[in-house]
Amino acid sequence: MSGGRVPVTLITGAAGEIGQALLHRLAGSRGDPIVTVDLRSLSTAGPGDLHREHFQGDILDSALWEQLLCRYRPTLIFHLAAILSTRAESVPVLAHRVNADGAARLLAMTADLATPDEPVRFVFPSSIAVYGLPSREAKEAAAPVSEDEHLDPATLYGAQKLYVERLGATIERLGNGLDFRAVRLPGLISSDTLPQGGTSDWAPELIHAAARGEPYCCFVNREARLPFCAMPDAVEGVLRLALCQKASLTRSAYNLGGPSLSAAEIIARVARDFPDLEVRFRLDRARDRIVAGWPGAVDDTAARRDFGFAPEHDEETLFSRYLIPGIRRRYLGDARAAG
Ligand code: NAD
Ligand code: SER
Repeated sequence: MSGGRVPVTLITGAAGEIGQALLHRLAGSRGDPIVTVDLRSLSTAGPGDLHREHFQGDILDSALWEQLLCRYRPTLIFHLAAILSTRAESVPVLAHRVNADGAARLLAMTADLATPDEPVRFVFPSSIAVYGLPSREAKEAAAPVSEDEHLDPATLYGAQKLYVERLGATIERLGNGLDFRAVRLPGLISSDTLPQGGTSDWAPELIHAAARGEPYCCFVNREARLPFCAMPDAVEGVLRLALCQKASLTRSAYNLGGPSLSAAEIIARVARDFPDLEVRFRLDRARDRIVAGWPGAVDDTAARRDFGFAPEHDEETLFSRYLIPGIRRRYLGDARAAG
């Protein structure tokens, strides 16, 4: 206890895709109790005994933080609440308030809570959206992009992510005890949940549609390519970064990678298990352009070296061991998944 307040792990955006997967991963583990914040309620699946309280509300609401901070003292924060890339472009003012102002306010609150003797860890999921390749040709020719290259975001969302990365690193350098750590995530694919409002959503949408036996209308072109990571691998990477010794870190923001896949390659792979898959293409130019500027592959050497990022799934096992059995279980029942 510190000043009568209970030390906790705080997760904002906990009702989202990564939040649900992180809560699931933490259920049953040892550690401080968990307090969550989200605009939405948490799903009925529940995060287990460790979960202390959910604050349903807006991260921009000062009253919510007053209430939370008079009872709890966060020692580790996963700040996941955000408006994802495609939606952020269509609600620019709100996206700025949530993604930039909301994160900046939480960073300032964290810096106030922290002291050099009692640092507070702030873990921030950034994105490949911080990169901006100048053309499709440049993207095709590029080697896996490392952290200091092509930092020229073409979207508001990407600019907001880069701003928060830099703000966090700058406040940390002031030496007041804020311990800021960021990962730049690729497109994530979960067998359990579907994304909303992202630009990489075509891949998970297509795979889930295949399992439901529904046709899919793809909004990017066949050659559109991004790195993708299985949700459990990404969550494990985020946790490893959060829990490692600060001394082992050599940078404030790290790439987490995964197999580099085009829409055509995903369709071909999914069709092996779901031969009735029917995909039409109706290009959404804005989303297709966003993908054209994001790297097709990222170099995650630093994350592997510094905190042991070690994704379990490669291009084949992402589908054969994780996605296909998982979505079969979800939509068709256990019997088909086993078969
Ligand atoms: P998500 O959209 O599923 O979850 C975000 C959650 O934040 C939602 O539950 C939403 O209700 C909540 N939220 C939004 N605005 C809020 C507000 N004002 N106050 C309180 N809660 C609010 O997204 P996700 O995939 O779980 O992403 C989590 C984080 O990871 C985000 O910061 C996102 O930018 C980042 N990220 C995700 C991916 C990906 O592929 N999923 C890739 C890169 C980075
Ligand atoms: N997958 C995320 C999105 O498409 C990248 O941050 O928004």
